[in-house]
Amino acid sequence: MEILNTVLIKNLGKHLDEEVTIQGWLYNQRGSGKVKFLILRDGSGLLQCVIVKQNIGEELFDKTKALTQETSITVTGIVKEEPRAAGGYEMQVTGFEVINIAEEYPITHKEHGVDFLLERRHLWIRTPRQMAILRIRSEIEHAFRDFFYQRDFVLADAPIITPSACEGTSTLFGLDYHGEKAYLSQSGQLYSEANAMALGRIYCFGPTFRAEKSKTRRHLMEFWMVEAEMAYFDMDDNIKLQEEMVYYVITRVLERCKRELTILDRDVEKLKNIQLPFPRISYTEAVEILKEAGEDFTWGEDFGAPHETIISNHFGSPVFVHRYPTSIKAFYMKPDPEDPNVVLGADLLAPEGYGEIIGGGQRIDDLELLKQRVEEHHLPIEAFEWYLDLRKYGSVPHSGFGLGLERTVAWLCGLEHIRETIPFPRMLHKMYP
Ligand code: 4AD
Repeated sequence: MEILNTVLIKNLGKHLDEEVTIQGWLYNQRGSGKVKFLILRDGSGLLQCVIVKQNIGEELFDKTKALTQETSITVTGIVKEEPRAAGGYEMQVTGFEVINIAEEYPITHKEHGVDFLLERRHLWIRTPRQMAILRIRSEIEHAFRDFFYQRDFVLADAPIITPSACEGTSTLFGLDYHGEKAYLSQSGQLYSEANAMALGRIYCFGPTFRAEKSKTRRHLMEFWMVEAEMAYFDMDDNIKLQEEMVYYVITRVLERCKRELTILDRDVEKLKNIQLPFPRISYTEAVEILKEAGEDFTWGEDFGAPHETIISNHFGSPVFVHRYPTSIKAFYMKPDPEDPNVVLGADLLAPEGYGEIIGGGQRIDDLELLKQRVEEHHLPIEAFEWYLDLRKYGSVPHSGFGLGLERTVAWLCGLEHIRETIPFPRMLHKMYP
């Protein structure tokens, strides 16, 4: 929908040979004493605006001399087809109005170092590459919501301030809640289980927090997680839903973000080649793959990033690894009745070395076993009384999962580092701006 008589650059094709107005910022310019080419950006794309002195008069033409990079400006003109231009169109300017002449802009069209750019993240996000990533992120978020909406899932939000841990106590951000100890949520899961017992099939989608001491290209302190929880789902139902969801999101991005993927130079063939169903292997089989690849790995250890890369490269597709050792997984994971040393949980590893993007599994539904596991993990039982109640009043088999949005964005965009996937990343020792 256009607002007033202004048009978004991405929609110019609908206004061929019409006079329209673009509201934007000056990204770049070149020209001579007679013709000026202004490259405008408006958040939806870049547009070349051609200003001919003879057409607009000397007085207005002279004003272009004062225009600096990032000056805010509205430009009116006729839309013309121009196959050589990035979007396929250019504008023959009939008039323009300067809103604010920008001071000397720190991010020029030269290469800048990452530290320099991160310090100026509030400006860095104005560059075409960053805008493309953030637009894809937005598409992915919409795709998740549509996927669940189409399948009758209820969106049930989980709290951010919580009295207890969900994913182990080593990565908790603590805070003072009017004199009581509280934590920023590591996952909405425990609340989602309660919501699923009320509403059947639910999802939540919000920020989660991990005080990770990891400084890697996959870890953020604050990241967004889409989490689903389904009553009466076993591990296999859970995996099937996840692969359908991931496939749906890939398809949406390929269909609707072509321009952005081109800006990012993403090798889209790798995404197009992904097929359903995704391979499924057990943790034990994954360990065999590592050993065959020459890794010195002992059954019972957790996979590190290089291990995950070896496993996913083996398939060249997203791959589910299920039945991890009970000892390395969270307290709520249901042991496999056929072998209680492993749990009915599965992680989804993304291809191309992007690592684990989903963690999920079937939950313990037996009250006594769950109590025992809370104790074994040295968690304060009082804080979990409400959670144990779910196993007292109509307990059912149920499963769920959580997908990390930023790792998924990094994968689908083909990015080296997770820091570019969110407008304002929170990383180890870095929270400015
Ligand atoms: O495997 P995790 O820890 O699973 C849970 O939190 C479950 N309670 C979810 C559930 O079943 N409802 O995290 C899930 C996903 C990971 O696969 C990863 O994609 C992402 O969250 N993730 C992170 N992303 C960025 N930075 C971090 N520090 C992350 N930690 C986890």
